[in-house]
Amino acid sequence: MDVIAGLEALTGPQGRALQERLRGLDVGGAEGLRLGTQLRREFPTQLVIDAMAQQELRRRASAKFRLAADMFFTRDGWEQASAEVVSTHRRTRFRGCARVADLCCGIGGDLVAIAAECAVRAVDRDPVHVWMARQNARVHGVAERVDTGEADVRDVDLADVDGVFVDPARRSGAGRKRLGESEPPLEWCLELPRRVGKVGIKAAPGIPHDVVPEGWELEFVAVDRELKEAAVWSPALATARTRATVLPAGDTLVAEPGTPVAVGEPAEFLLDPNPAVTRAGLVEDLARGLDVHKIDEQIAFLTADRAVHTPFARTLRVIDSAPWNQKQLPARLRALDVGAVDIRRRGLAGDVDALHRKLRLSGSRRATLVMTRVRDRPWALVCLDVPVPGPGDGSLVP
Ligand SMILES: C[S@@+](CC[C@H](N)C(=O)[O-])C[C@H]1O[C@@H](n2cnc3c(N)ncnc32)[C@H](O)[C@@H]1O
Repeated sequence: MDVIAGLEALTGPQGRALQERLRGLDVGGAEGLRLGTQLRREFPTQLVIDAMAQQELRRRASAKFRLAADMFFTRDGWEQASAEVVSTHRRTRFRGCARVADLCCGIGGDLVAIAAECAVRAVDRDPVHVWMARQNARVHGVAERVDTGEADVRDVDLADVDGVFVDPARRSGAGRKRLGESEPPLEWCLELPRRVGKVGIKAAPGIPHDVVPEGWELEFVAVDRELKEAAVWSPALATARTRATVLPAGDTLVAEPGTPVAVGEPAEFLLDPNPAVTRAGLVEDLARGLDVHKIDEQIAFLTADRAVHTPFARTLRVIDSAPWNQKQLPARLRALDVGAVDIRRRGLAGDVDALHRKLRLSGSRRATLVMTRVRDRPWALVCLDVPVPGPGDGSLVP
């Protein structure tokens, strides 16, 4: 049976009843097989196969979407869809637009977010994704603001939109440097402002800075400490050259011009910047804003003599700091009563797993062992977590 006809059947009375039976269940493994056999006695086989496939994808997609349990997904569509926390942040750039074209809409992850701001024309060349984008818009209560179309995005008339968002498909095994590795290629996306001024492009977090033209903004987005993606904003939407944003709170950091940051010995606290900050090349700017210093010209760790709490870095308390000496390390850790370490390596080569095995620790404390360089010398820092103050019990430094 044709894929769309199968999906349509899921929206009919029998399909809906079957989906209700599966709601919230884990349909993988032996239990799933048993359930499938049982359901095939009551429902058509193909309907059961399609419903169970959707249920499996919905369960996985629940990490990205609040309403995943009612949405429709393909495996590729779910994997490539923007998580709600990211698309909700990104959509605010289109505030004030009357109608935005969502080019390469996939299953509609960005579409349902942007449609909360304005009308959206959603286009994809995959008919199954177009069908799902429409359904998912309905699930999010924005269907009346969305029109969907199946087409190659290169053929779409943009005369009546005042904004464009494009999320090209990533080709598997794509290299970092080659612009043509997405479909449509980034070069094509970067030409869009000739037709519509306000353009946002979703990009992989590995995007090289130098492919972003003068006047555009490159934003790196992390959710907590996980770097998720980048967005490239045309001059009409740009508000900085580079930006690091940390979600879910939406804290955002841009360049802070000023004098070079001093390099000094590690003090009592070590700051490990968020990966969005390091990818955006804003470590020096963060240091200036916090009035802390670097431990090396090249290394993205910062140090302070006070506990600095910032959304843009993890703060650790240094309990031991010395030039790297692997032979002495087990004895040093034993003396500090450290029984378990997370190893954080930056700027120093070494096999972390082999080191873990050699340490043979037995103390009662858990610490972070930082392998790094201080003023270009290999260095070891032993650090403990610093509790983050809750609301009202300390000042959060921006
Ligand atoms: C990364 S996914 C989009 C994900 C979407 N933003 C979301 O959050 O759900 C890329 C989509 O681009 C579509 N696509 C790739 N090249 C296209 C083209 N030339 N024209 C139209 N759609 C295209 C693919 O079919 C796929 O659905």
